[in-house]
Order: sequence, then structure tokens, then C-alpha cells
Amino acid sequence: MRADALRAAADTIGEGVGGDLLGLIFTACHPVLSKDAQILQFGSLPPQFCRPPISSCVDRGEGTISELTARFQWRCPMSADEPQGYDYGAVTKSPVSWDDFQDLKRVLGFSDRDQQLLLRAGEMIGPRLEELLGHWLDQLGPWVHATFSGPDVERYSSTAGARFGRGMLDGFTRTYDQKWLDYQHEIGLRHSRTKKNRTDEVDSVPVVPFRHLVASIHVLSEIPDKLLDGVSSADAAGIRAAWSKSLLLQVALWSRSYVTADDW
Ligand code: HEM
Repeated sequence: MRADALRAAADTIGEGVGGDLLGLIFTACHPVLSKDAQILQFGSLPPQFCRPPISSCVDRGEGTISELTARFQWRCPMSADEPQGYDYGAVTKSPVSWDDFQDLKRVLGFSDRDQQLLLRAGEMIGPRLEELLGHWLDQLGPWVHATFSGPDVERYSSTAGARFGRGMLDGFTRTYDQKWLDYQHEIGLRHSRTKKNRTDEVDSVPVVPFRHLVASIHVLSEIPDKLLDGVSSADAAGIRAAWSKSLLLQVALWSRSYVTADDW
């Protein structure tokens, strides 16, 4: 999707609206915005109804299109403290057995070298995590926004966003041991109907659609060159392959919360 599809959508409605503007329109539709900008939710109404809020934002001189887009990103506030609700090391044991976990790693070809490459990359990425999160959310923002709604949307998107960032960093900096396996199950539950919204005690969209978890792996696999500055091209390729395998491993583990045990 993204620019091409957004442009196609613009052509369909015959407005001649550019991909950037439509992207902003979709992002601006999320209830994370103030009430007057919150005219409709992403994807819930025909796009032509999006024109009044966005044109009024621009008309009111609130900023250029790119400034507004940046302001409307899902915020991932990172701080020295652990995010609220981040329960690494304090969750119940994963129902996935250690043998099944090792087997899954073998299917993916996730090796000790991959683990080492990720740990090494984590040292570089840690201090620049916000840049990496921004790179991903520039592209996935509308779909992520669509999973937040309700009266506590500001608080929810902020705390869940912080945990998202923390969890992404864990993917690089943690050793994939039993604690990691256990927390992967917890993260799967928190995306699924079983436990979404419960950590923050909010009344929001009930589930992150599983198809979006799978499809988002493509974008989340991207690590821009600037974040791997000074790494040889062979190692950079190794880091990217290891990260991509890690994301597949994570979502494969999370799928345990979306399908029956027998089918998993
Ligand atoms: C491979 C893809 C993804 C990864 C690795 C990922 C990672 C994470 C992590 C680590 C958390 C925090 C878990 C916690 O400690 O509470 C989280 C929370 C969340 N993510 Fe994702 N995420 C992915 C895809 C998505 C997508 C595509 C969406 C929406 C379209 C999404 C929506 C959410 C929401 C709503 C929460 C908060 C859930 C809650 O506690 O209520 N995620 N994600």
C-alpha cells in the first residue's frame, strides 16, 4: 500500500490529491487528535469526507503537510524508566515448549550468529532507537493508529507506544532465553483479543488484526543505512537478515494467541 495505493485512491475519488496529502488525511483521521481535528476514524468513511479537517488544519496555519504528518505520528516516548506495564521477567510461562521454540528457530535458520549480530546491532541502535521507530511508523502509522480508540486514546497510545519501543529494543538486546520466550507469549496476548487493552485498562479496538502483524514485518525489517554506520556491508546484510528472522520468529510465537493450540 502506501504512496501508490494512496495515489490510486485519490484518483478514484477524482480529487487529484497527492499521496502525501492522503497519507496525512488518513493519519489525521485518528482519534489521537484533538476533538476538532477528530472528524472520523481511519478507513471508516469515504476519503472525500476527510477533506474538511485536513484542509482546515492547513488553512488555520497549523503547519505544512510534512510538519502536520510528523506531529500526528504514534508517539513512542522513550525515557530512562521502564514503560508502564512493561513486565519483562514477570509474566507467566509461555505454553510454547522449549523444544518447539528451538524447532521454530531451526525452520527460520535463526542461529547463534544471528543472536550475536543482533546484540551487536543493539549497541548501535539503542541510542538512536527513536530514529528507527520513526522510520517504521512513518510507513505504518495509519494502521497502528487504527488500533487505538476510545476516551483514553492519548494515554493508551503513549504508554503502549513506549512499550512498543522498549520491546523492539529487546529484540536486539535480549538473549532469546526462557524469559524472552515467555514475554513473547505475553506480547502476542496483548495484540490479540485475549489481552489487548488490558494492560492499560482502556476501552479500545479489541484486537490487532493478525494479518497486519504478518504484513508489517516487511517494513519493520528495514534498518536504514545511517543506523549501521561503520559496519561492513557483509555484517550489515547479516544484521538485517538476523532482524528479519527475529521478527518472523516473534510473530510466529505470537500466532499462538490467535489460533487454537491444536492448529498451532
Ligand atoms: C511484527 C510486528 C510488530 C511488532 C514486533 C510489535 C511489537 C509490539 C510490542 C513489543 C508491543 C508492546 C508489548 C507490551 O510490552 O505490552 C506492542 C504493543 C502494541 N502493538 Fe505492536 N507490534 C507489531 C505490529 C503491530 C501492528 C501491525 C499493530 C497495529 C496495526 C500493532 C499495534 C499494537 C498495539 C495496539 C499495542 C498495545 C497493545 C495493548 O497492550 O493493548 N502492533 N507491539
